[in-house]
Amino acid sequence: MTVSTRPPGTARLRLDRLWSRGCAFLGSPTAIMGGAMTWVSERTLVSAISNAGGFGVLACGSMSPDRLAAEIAGTRALTDRPFGVNLINLHPDLDRLVEVCVEHRVGHVVIAGGLPAAGTVKRIKDGGAKVMAFAPALVIARRLVRMGVDALIIEGSEAGGHIGPVATSVLAQEILPEVREVPVFVAGGIGRGEAIVSALEVGAAGVQIGTRFVCATESIAHPNFKKAFIRASARDAQASVQLDPRLPVIPVRALVNEGTKRFMETQRALIARLGAGEITRDAAQLEIEHFWAGALRRAVIDGDVETGSLMAGQSVGMVTREQPTAEIIAELADQAEAALLRRFASLPLRARSLETGAAQG
Ligand SMILES: Cc1cc2nc3c(=O)[nH]c(=O)nc-3n(C[C@H](O)[C@H](O)[C@H](O)COP(=O)(O)O)c2cc1C
Repeated sequence: MTVSTRPPGTARLRLDRLWSRGCAFLGSPTAIMGGAMTWVSERTLVSAISNAGGFGVLACGSMSPDRLAAEIAGTRALTDRPFGVNLINLHPDLDRLVEVCVEHRVGHVVIAGGLPAAGTVKRIKDGGAKVMAFAPALVIARRLVRMGVDALIIEGSEAGGHIGPVATSVLAQEILPEVREVPVFVAGGIGRGEAIVSALEVGAAGVQIGTRFVCATESIAHPNFKKAFIRASARDAQASVQLDPRLPVIPVRALVNEGTKRFMETQRALIARLGAGEITRDAAQLEIEHFWAGALRRAVIDGDVETGSLMAGQSVGMVTREQPTAEIIAELADQAEAALLRRFASLPLRARSLETGAAQG
């Protein structure tokens, strides 16, 4: 038996095998999803990610149905590759937004911000699209699979934006070995290709990355927002703190600034109003979400990096410059390949030939 004399080719084949389920599900040559980021993931960045071989996802955020329809059409004008749409479960016009996705034949709809209703999943699937949802625990992953969700995303607390309490590494161990029925994508803290390989090797179909795409050349984020990312290190991206159990708030990971203090003041004021019976808990929680949406817009669009919200994941320390999207994706794939190649090179000769056969077969 001859040992392959072309290990780099073998590494690529191995990578293609490792993420083949994710690529087939997304319809893209790499299984790297560009996680939807409200205000950031609009047509330019989303089409750039899909054109570069990733899978872009439009962030609907608080858009109206007409605005979403225009954004989908605008994205389609810039790419003929597949892309998805991220809808926030709490959006008051969710049903209409689902209709817009169906009417515009969007292939993949990602439901964020809580468990989707069974009716929402059914309507999306009946309309011909695939449904993806976030699973913050194994029991929820199982429930989503039973509901007919086509793929799951598990997002650890290292991620930017709204986060759950559990780290990516723990969620991956808890969920990946148990859920084989549908592809599972891993998100949170992925900044390099080596981390992509680690996720794939424990059973992920692919990955979702947000923070690393914020400073893409094609990202419309304000230059001040990008500068803050380039300067920051992992420890600057901190999770917000809940002040009172009477007002449960979903933690948000962001770079610490004056906006962080304003969030605490907003919480304090709402807790006082809640205590005085002037506002219900649901209404107070909605105000918190409006606070974040407004603060994120001020930072991303207006460049107010003092009082706006600089939502960022811990991988922000690996964002060192503005780079074209295609370069970011190529760099991640090259790092993944290099990691596989290093491992291949460290194997004894006989194991290398077996590995070569497996990668090609
Ligand atoms: C600025 C920002 C805005 C985000 N907005 C959304 C959103 O609207 N919907 C959503 O599902 N996730 C949102 N996310 C999470 C990303 O889609 C993605 O899952 C996350 O960034 C992955 O972790 P990473 O930041 O460590 O790469 C946001 C993240 C960031 C940094």
